[in-house]
Amino acid sequence: LVLVVDFGAQYAQLIARRVREARVYSEIVPHTMPVAEMLAREPKAIILSGGPSSVYADGAPSIDPSLFTQGTAVFGMCYGFQLMAQGLGGTVAHTGAREYGRTPVEVSEPGTLLADLPAQHNVWMSHGDSVSQAPDGFTVLASTATTPVAAFEDVDRGLAGVQWHPEVLHSEHGQQVLEHFLHDIAGCRQTWTMLNIVEEQVEAIREQIGEGRAICALSGGVDSAVAAAIVQRAIGDRLTCVYVDHGMMRLGETEQVRSDFEAVFDTLDVVDAADQFLGALEGVVDPEEKRKVIGREFIRTFEAAEVRVFGDLDSGAQATAYLVQGTLYPDVVESGGGAGTSNIKSHHNVGGLPDDLAFELVEPLRTLFKDEVRLVGEQLGLPSTMVWRQPFPGPGLGIRIIGEVTRERLDILRQADAIAREELTRAGLDRDIWQMPVVLLADVRSVGVQGDGRTYGHPVVIRPVTSEDAMTADWARLPYDVLERISTRITNEVAEVNRVTLDVTSKPPGTIEWE
Ligand code: XMP
Repeated sequence: LVLVVDFGAQYAQLIARRVREARVYSEIVPHTMPVAEMLAREPKAIILSGGPSSVYADGAPSIDPSLFTQGTAVFGMCYGFQLMAQGLGGTVAHTGAREYGRTPVEVSEPGTLLADLPAQHNVWMSHGDSVSQAPDGFTVLASTATTPVAAFEDVDRGLAGVQWHPEVLHSEHGQQVLEHFLHDIAGCRQTWTMLNIVEEQVEAIREQIGEGRAICALSGGVDSAVAAAIVQRAIGDRLTCVYVDHGMMRLGETEQVRSDFEAVFDTLDVVDAADQFLGALEGVVDPEEKRKVIGREFIRTFEAAEVRVFGDLDSGAQATAYLVQGTLYPDVVESGGGAGTSNIKSHHNVGGLPDDLAFELVEPLRTLFKDEVRLVGEQLGLPSTMVWRQPFPGPGLGIRIIGEVTRERLDILRQADAIAREELTRAGLDRDIWQMPVVLLADVRSVGVQGDGRTYGHPVVIRPVTSEDAMTADWARLPYDVLERISTRITNEVAEVNRVTLDVTSKPPGTIEWE
């Protein structure tokens, strides 16, 4: 275990991921956690993340310097590097000179930390203060034009640090530096593999669920699929998977999901709820209202499925109903949670469930990042259409029809969307693009000409975006010839569409979906 101490900057998650890429398990803890508590978890190493620009700033977060003398290896990055220097009697100069962005660094003495690195390379910096003198016992390894001490180590005590951010992609050889620390200075063993994750989780779930039964709502996306696959490995057909087809999926999607999932899951309950959802959406135009209606109908459908699975539990029965969810580590960190299990009480009595039926969550992906989930999915042998599926919103095409959702409009959008996706795949761009919604402006009409005749059809918008986490996104610069094929084919093949437009808005200010 490696603990990444979060000093409030946005880097801690990235560092934790990079540590895992070095095949060492990591978790993030807040800097307010007492040192004794950190050490009680018996970490093999502790990494101090970047943070505010100055250790001298008012209210700047700190750490008890006793951390550095407990025999546990510690690595400081940027702000963490300065805290280590300051905590051990070095000097941090409040010079006012700043270094931001790409900076050449000069390696004077590679030591263990910078072994095999080029004497000169570029790293990514973001700091105001600088370490002007390393603490006693440390070897200075590198410098930059304005920072005399840019990296140091004391291998005997297991301490090291760099002024730059080795975790960011723009720092050359950053991963190598991190691995030198983890493997060569801290002596971490490389045991974090996808196989281990699966085995550990299967064990833990067997323990948690015992002889009980669980239910999982599959959305078609990778998270719920991988979570369910792990649980199935643990409890077999005592897991029931429920997939709700709300009638707003893309062309061929439900069939694809069904055949993919039936090949993987023993008990799959595919609920055809199109009439129910589309009926409830009649006359609904407002985006928030649409989402509410869809959410409500989804809960109703799922409750009915719960009754089918758990219905034979007598009220007052001690049995617990287990609910599998694909919660990921970033969700856990962002909601301020750490270790521990959540437990929700079912408060919906609708559908005749016993009042006191408790739902206990099973979350096998709670410690994982998205890219790890995909690797676990591959490890479990899930089909790549499932593992590499681009994100698709729960409300489906319903929030990509601007205006009322009707069957006719869904059919139009489905055809246009299928063409766009087909051309994207043909161009080999599926993994470069985060996702590419196609949006039907159902209440807008525009004049066109086709053959000899005037047309009066609907425009569609294509919205290809690139993103790392959907929090921010940029519009994707698709090659013109791909755009051309999409446009020509949609206007030729989808009778009701006579215009194709491209959305060139980043997020922010736009969102990825139009509603
Ligand atoms: P926005 O439109 O907010 O979308 O930029 C960010 C990401 O989330 C997806 N999305 C949803 N996913 N249920 C989901 O499961 C939803 O209601 C929902 N709304 C948006 C969207 O496709 C994008 O990947």
